[in-house]
Amino acid sequence: MLHHFKRLVFKICCNFLTTHPLYLNNTGSYRPNFFINKKVFMMYKKQLLVVVFLAASIFFIQCSKSFEESANKDSSVANSENGPEGTGLINSGKQIFRYDTYGDEEFWSGLLHIDKAIAGAENGGFGPGVSPNTALAVGLKVDVNALPPDVIAGILSGEVDLDDPATTITLLQLNSVVGVKGNFDAKGSLQSIGITCASCHSTVDNSFAPGIGKRLDGWPNRDLDVGTIVSLTDNAQPIADMLHVDEATLRKVLGLWGPGKYAAVLFMDGKAFRPDGQVAANLIPAAFGLKGIRRTTYTGWGDISYWNAFVANLEMHGKGRFLDPRLNNADKYPIAVENGFYNVTNTPDLITSKLPALRAYQHSIEAPKPPAGSFDNAAAHRGKAIFVTKAKCDGCHRLPLYSDNVLHTAAEIGIDDFEAMRSPTGKYRTTPLGGLFTRAKGGFYHDGRYATLLDVVNHYNDHNSLNLSANEKDDLVEFLKSL
Ligand code: HEC
Ligand code: HEC
Repeated sequence: MLHHFKRLVFKICCNFLTTHPLYLNNTGSYRPNFFINKKVFMMYKKQLLVVVFLAASIFFIQCSKSFEESANKDSSVANSENGPEGTGLINSGKQIFRYDTYGDEEFWSGLLHIDKAIAGAENGGFGPGVSPNTALAVGLKVDVNALPPDVIAGILSGEVDLDDPATTITLLQLNSVVGVKGNFDAKGSLQSIGITCASCHSTVDNSFAPGIGKRLDGWPNRDLDVGTIVSLTDNAQPIADMLHVDEATLRKVLGLWGPGKYAAVLFMDGKAFRPDGQVAANLIPAAFGLKGIRRTTYTGWGDISYWNAFVANLEMHGKGRFLDPRLNNADKYPIAVENGFYNVTNTPDLITSKLPALRAYQHSIEAPKPPAGSFDNAAAHRGKAIFVTKAKCDGCHRLPLYSDNVLHTAAEIGIDDFEAMRSPTGKYRTTPLGGLFTRAKGGFYHDGRYATLLDVVNHYNDHNSLNLSANEKDDLVEFLKSL
């Protein structure tokens, strides 16, 4: 009996704690379990009053324990991902990551008509259409493993016309365009397209041709020009209205993002430009090497399941359930408030049940190792010693994750606080550095402000008065290239 109440009280209290805004950063659960538990609370109110005295002490002990557990929830789940059951979860997460659109066709086709723009006027759409060569030019990738031998032979012989939008439709039918899913009717005509996580967070190894090869999941697609792709729409007005700008301004902003960048927070706060007048857009980050990383995104919005739900619901416009009271702040997030992004409900919910598998898959992807010969081994060894001593990098980029799971102020890392202050945290998260070579394109730091690793090292050298010699800087760079 006591045990029963102990568990009940503990559950209610802990659920309250873990859903309280103060603790939002540490929890994976953004479902409205507080409200559900409020009901439970009312039901058991009498019994609770009887045991409340006894329970108080138990609660405090248990809750502090549980809070630690919940803070480590991601890593404990990650461990259970290793068993035979875990493998199943990882595999289904892989399918979801690659192919699931969460019902976002309603946005990408229903509202933006991107399917019709791809097809072109000659194939029942509008405009010139998007040929495979045009698609590759805006950074879309083709999965060579999805191509049957005759299509491969046709591409090699030139019989398959890569300048014809009809070929793009064939590629979509083969489910070979990474991150873009076409839906076809029985007659084989394109009904709609949707996008998946892989559009931004996978690329290919170019083994067949530039842009055509085997999938590399978790690698950021730094060629993908999301702004240009969205601009294909003939119906930009609703998005412009949402952001309270005219269509020309919206199209200008989309054109300024450039390859490998996307502006997720724009659709919350409406800030298209940084205070220095440059367009505000962040580099697509790696979706690998995140096991053990408690806060995701450059500014630590939340844990991985929080962010996965955020993106699937609010950016891809999939159909799920999302709750984050922090977004219900009209001063900070006017667009989010106007559109009710802090509390989204769709029935059926095509997202929430997929989050554990999605997380399992992302956590299973380790940071890839750079190819042999892409850095100087001896210099990298010397660089490692500098990294952990004189350059004091491991104060934040702590081994083995190369991250400390701690947020830092803009002043600590010596940059402006614009992006940090747009996040509920007001800070920057230490980026895990594994697989840096996969994201050399587009620059470093959240917005790519440092073009090269040497620029990054020079920045730290100045900001932290490290007094590194030219040789030491070079060694440090070789070490970074080796990660
Ligand atoms: C349109 C491109 C795009 C799509 C589609 C997309 N993401 Fe992202 N993703 C980004 C960008 C840009 C960021 C960086 C956000 C920030 O910090 O401002 C990001 C951040 C992340 C992060 C945080 C990585 C880290 O270092 O902490 C994870 C995890 C992630 N995305 C997973 C996903 C998943 C899962 C999906 C599908 C449900 C998805 N993303 C869909 C562009 C995209
Ligand atoms: C005070 C904590 C701190 C210290 C010390 C620190 N870093 Fe960082 N580092 C960060 C944070 C936070 C970011 C994310 C900045 C951003 O995205 O705007 C970052 C980003 C980076 C990046 C960019 C990663 C990417 O994918 O964009 C590199 C490279 C890097 N740091 C290397 C180093 C090196 C080398 C040193 C030592 C000379 C060092 N850091 C010292 C906190 C730190």
